Parts: sequence; structure tokens; C-alpha cells
Amino acid sequence: MKAQLLKTPFLLTICLLILVSDGWAQTDDWAEVAPGVWKLSVGKPEAYNLLTASGAQPNQEALGRLEKPAGFPLPKGEIAVWVENNKTYLRFPLEQGEQLYGFGLNFQTVHQRGKILKLHVDHYGGKDNGRTHAPTPFYVSSNGYGVFVNAARYIDVYAGSAVRKDSKHPPKVQNRNTDKDWSARPYSDAVEMLVPAEGADVYVFAGPKPMDAVRRFNLFNGGGCLPPRWGLGFTQRVHRLYSADEVRNEAAEFEAKQYPLDFIGLEPGWQTKSYPCTFEWAKDRFPDPAGFVKDMLQKGVRINLWTNPYVSPEAPLYPQIAPYTGSHTVWVGAVPDLTLPEAKAIYWKKFEDEHLRIGVSGYKIDEVDGYDTYLWPDVATFPSGLSAEQMRQTYGLLVQKQSADLFRKRNQRTYGLVRASNAGGVSLPYVIYNDYYSHEDFITALINSGFSGTLWTPEVRASKTGEEWLRRFQSVCFSPMAMINAWSSGTKPWSFPEVAEEVKTIAQLRMRMMPYWYSEFAKYHFEGTPPFRAMNLEDGFRAEVRKEVVTASLEENPYVEAVSKEVKDQYMAGEYLLVAPVFTGQKSRKVILPKGKWYDFYTGKYVGNGEVITVTPGLDKIPVFVKDGGIIPIMPPLLHAPKPGQKVDLEIRHYGEKPAEYRLYDDDGETFDYEKGQYSWRVLKVERQKSGPWKGSISAAEKGKPNTVGKVTWTFMTQ
Ligand code: GAL
Repeated sequence: MKAQLLKTPFLLTICLLILVSDGWAQTDDWAEVAPGVWKLSVGKPEAYNLLTASGAQPNQEALGRLEKPAGFPLPKGEIAVWVENNKTYLRFPLEQGEQLYGFGLNFQTVHQRGKILKLHVDHYGGKDNGRTHAPTPFYVSSNGYGVFVNAARYIDVYAGSAVRKDSKHPPKVQNRNTDKDWSARPYSDAVEMLVPAEGADVYVFAGPKPMDAVRRFNLFNGGGCLPPRWGLGFTQRVHRLYSADEVRNEAAEFEAKQYPLDFIGLEPGWQTKSYPCTFEWAKDRFPDPAGFVKDMLQKGVRINLWTNPYVSPEAPLYPQIAPYTGSHTVWVGAVPDLTLPEAKAIYWKKFEDEHLRIGVSGYKIDEVDGYDTYLWPDVATFPSGLSAEQMRQTYGLLVQKQSADLFRKRNQRTYGLVRASNAGGVSLPYVIYNDYYSHEDFITALINSGFSGTLWTPEVRASKTGEEWLRRFQSVCFSPMAMINAWSSGTKPWSFPEVAEEVKTIAQLRMRMMPYWYSEFAKYHFEGTPPFRAMNLEDGFRAEVRKEVVTASLEENPYVEAVSKEVKDQYMAGEYLLVAPVFTGQKSRKVILPKGKWYDFYTGKYVGNGEVITVTPGLDKIPVFVKDGGIIPIMPPLLHAPKPGQKVDLEIRHYGEKPAEYRLYDDDGETFDYEKGQYSWRVLKVERQKSGPWKGSISAAEKGKPNTVGKVTWTFMTQ
């Protein structure tokens, strides 16, 4: 039985319902489950899904604070859902000219209309085909709404690629013999999805703008994570076989050379055995783990531990956990079924007792994505009865949620790394990374992270030249986690002496901008606005939509298509900044400025308005532009994030011609007390005085609320 159309007369609907048994959902049955969020349960949705695995809870209050939507954002009559052959079919309409974004952490494309994807957790393999670290089943339309399928399944997506016989807006039949306009891919007026399950919960998020739909999705998932302040400093991951002494020396070198450093990541060698793991400190390299961690903390440097979840038969916890593991191994290590309370208790106790208790601050949880060649196969079974597929789609969520809860229990925030996530993971304090290493594609991933409820770091590992090193370093300092991952290369920020000073300057800039980054993450948490995101979410942005010239001949590729131009090499960072990274070999680049006046971040000079400019920044600068009326709070270049309560002097920079206001967030920077109201927003205001010059002011500190603002000075960048 087929697509069900809305506004079907009541009696007819009843007859249809009887005809098709329990496969149907009424497409009139959309229930508003939160302000601007509608849910439809199709067929028999599975109890285990992305939101249950992640434990995500909607932030109803924050959703209620967003602009009230006009109503359901799509023509309900053009949505069709049904269950057939034990699978759930979903169809959503598309209008001409509508563009789609999202469908997870893609690396090469931002525009998703026309794509055919299988959303499948995997290590990114070089193609945007749905197999990626966070294949979030959520898309946003340029028409200003979002759609989310809450299923822990491999979902097939035809994002405006297929043409039905009963299409409401069918393409014209063309004759290739004679029509110049013949296309190998005729116009499609729908997104169609296939969920391999007998039902699924589907959600629609209202706009009116695409950014509003993204905010609603993020808030529905609990709001973005608020990292501890130190998470936004600089982090170095050391060589995999480093000993405690080598780590100590490395930290001392950072200090001596005056490079900022907030946390150090230990790679596999802190464990006696890895791949599979024992989770035991290697005493030859770390004879006194507690003493070592304490020592480092005293120096202002936190410790983050790498692990993958797979349990070595030689691990002391193996006998206990073995009954609660899957049928198949990963590198001959057992895979804990972390949906079982018994497995959870046994597994995480180890981490709690031997890491958190001695002061370890976070984890990097590796290898929870794929590849198929080493991960458990789809024929694996798990004692909970969940399928290998469900486990694959959610394992990243399970390890994030469960490890984050260990820290939450101690009223301590964490910020770590993970290689797989999914919808539901928005509020979990983890950043995704991978082994792929294209600088350009890393930036596109950063752009797409804002559509998929994830954070991504374009980590720096190694480089062929100083130029490449510096260019990558500049990008990572304008991302959710400023990091060198030297697990294999042993590189340090100063590894390329010819650019060591420039690297230091940008690392210091990262630290100086901490008040800005921290406030922007607070907006992610409280308001759902992704701190790093696509230009497409920016008001006044219009990509140069033009057809690219395709030169392939009929013989080369008879199905070759022109694609519309997408912008995937510049992005927004926080409320005001437009970042346009420069890649190795480039001396200049084009930057598309949205409508409105824009100013150079470094000089405050006017650069343009709604136009394409060409910049030649020199090797030492990453091009960054500030919106008219932008306010950027800056602190001194400390080597470590300020401690709770530590007063910090601020230089408030104002750009452009507009008077402006900025909300500066403050709390203790480390605990969850902000959830009990222990936080404050200070209003920074810049106005013109009657006599002409600018004047800045900051609202008074609220009594009884955290206040870390020291002396405030004002710089009016645009003269
Ligand atoms: C990889 C991971 C790297 C590093 C390495 C250690 O899987 O992506 O960042 O941690 O493992 O073996």
C-alpha cells in the first residue's frame, strides 16, 4: 500500500487504515511535542533509537524562548509515510530552487540536494556517500525547516534524486536526440528515505530561517555542550609511546617557550597493551600514575587518555565483562554491550577508579566508527538482543554519554574526543576527529558539523613544509578544539622553526579569544546556535549560484552533470566572525562577504559589503572578518585557562560603524553549577557619544553570581 496523502476524507482514511493494517501513520497526526517541533510516529517505532541511546532530553524552556513559528512548515498533504515489507518509507516534498544541508558530517559537499546516501557510521572513506563519523539523519532546507528521522538504522536517502510516476511536479520528458536540455538526472520533487525497520519517529522543525531549524534541532537534543574553559585552550597529544618523564619534559618545554597548553593527550602507550586494550597503566612508562597526574594538574596541565573500547583477553576486567560482550571481536578484543547495566557498571568502574579518581580530565575514545574490515560485522549479535547495525549506529553515543556521566557525577565538566557520533549527541562534550588529512576537506567538515549537531576538529598532525604547518595550525585555532595530534609524528608547535613564532602568535590568539569562544559555546548550549557553521546559515549570504562548466565529453562520461557552486572553504565562527582559511600553495583567495559591512579582524579596516573580495593575507595571517557592530572580548595570552573565580582583564574590541551589544557569558568554568543558575550574562555595549567618539560600557555584575571580569578596556578598531 502506498503513500498516504493528507487531507484524505475521514471515511476514506478509515478504510485505508483497515486495508493496510498497522503500517500507517496519519500524516495529519503530527503532534507538536515542543514549541516548533512536530513528531509523527510511523508504524511501530523501535524503542531503541538515537535519542534513547544518547539520553538526549529536549530543552523545552529554551525552545519556548525562540521566535514562535507560524505553524507546521511544510504542506502536510505532500508528506507521505508508510510501512511495507517491514520497512518504513518516508517522503517529503521539495520545491524548485530549494537546497538541502546536513545528513551528517560530510567532508566534500555542503549542498545535499540530489544526493543518494546510506547513512551508516563509518570512518570517512573519501566519498560523501553517507558513511561517515556522524551520519546524522537530519536535514535542513534553505526554505527554513528541518527533518529528523530518529532511527538507529542504516537509512537510505534519496535527497531529491528519484522521480515517481505520480510526482506532483514531474520533470518534462526530454528527447536526448534533439533536446539540448536533456538531463541524465531529471528534476525530482521529493526527499525519500527508507528505514529498515517497521516504524520510526520522524520530527519536523520549524524555521522561519534555516538557522532557526538548526537551533530547534540542537535544543531538542538538549542544547550544545558547554565545555570547561580549559577545553577551549590548546591541547597537545604526545607520541604514542611517551613515558611520564617525557610528558613532563614536553609540558616544561611548552612553558619555557611560552606556548599555551591546557591539556595533554596520552596515546595508546599509557596502557600495557592496546588494540585490544587492557585499560591498565603501563608501569614501565608510568610508574606512579596518581603522582604524575597530580603533578601535571599542579602545573596547570590536564591529562586526557586515549582508549578504544575493545577489551583484551589479558585485561584484568575481561573475565567479568566477557558474558556481556558481543559475538564478534575487534582486533580480538571483546566488545562490551554497553546497553546492558551490568556491562556498564563493570566497564566504567575501571575508568572511575583508576582514572577519574586520580584526576584524569577526559578521554579520546577511538575506533568506534569503523572501518568494516576491523569493526564487528553486521552478522554479530549482542546479549541485549540489539542488532549489530543498531550497535554500530549508536556505539559512539553510548561511550560519549556514559563516560561524560562519570564526570557529571563528580560535578566536573570534561571535553574530549570521539570518532563516532549521531543525532542525540549534541550536548555530549566530545569533538570528532579522524585519520583522513585533507586540509580543505577538514574545513568542509567543520562547516557541516554545524548542520549535524556535532563538533569537529581539523587536527594538525604532520606537514611537509612550514607553510603547510602554519596554514593547518591557523585553521585549528579557529575550531572547537585547538590541537596537535602527534601520536605518530611526535611534532610540536615549534617543529618548523621557520614559522615557530607565527605558530606561537596564533596559539596565543586562540587563548586571548577565550572569552569570545566561551560565550559562543554558551550560546550553543542555551540557544542552540552552532559556534562553527556554514555561510548558508548567515543572513545576507547568497552563494554565487552559477552552473559550473563541465568539460567531459559524451565518451568520457555520458551521465556527467553540471553542479551548482557551493561555498565550502569559508565559515562563520561565533556571532561575528567569518573565517576564510588559506591552504598550502595559495597566496591569495576569494572571500564571499554576505550583505552588510565587513571589517578586517586584525586592523578594523572596512573590506566590503555583499561582494566577492580577493585577499592576499601573507603567510602569518588567516583571513578573518568581522560583521559591522561586532564585539570581540579578548583576554591576555595566559598559558592556561583561568581557574574558577580567577579575575581576568578584558580588552573589548568593537568593529565597524554600528552601535552594538554583546552578551558575555560567565560561570566557574569547570562545574555544572550553571545548571542551577550559577552563571551570568554581562552586556557589553558600544554607543556613539553626542560629541562623536565611541563609548563602551559593561553591565554591573549580578550579586551572588560568578564574576571573573577584571579591568575592562575598550578598543574601537574601526577609525
Ligand atoms: C588512530 C587515531 C589516531 C591515534 C591512533 C593511535 O585510530 O585516529 O588519532 O589515536 O589511533 O593508535
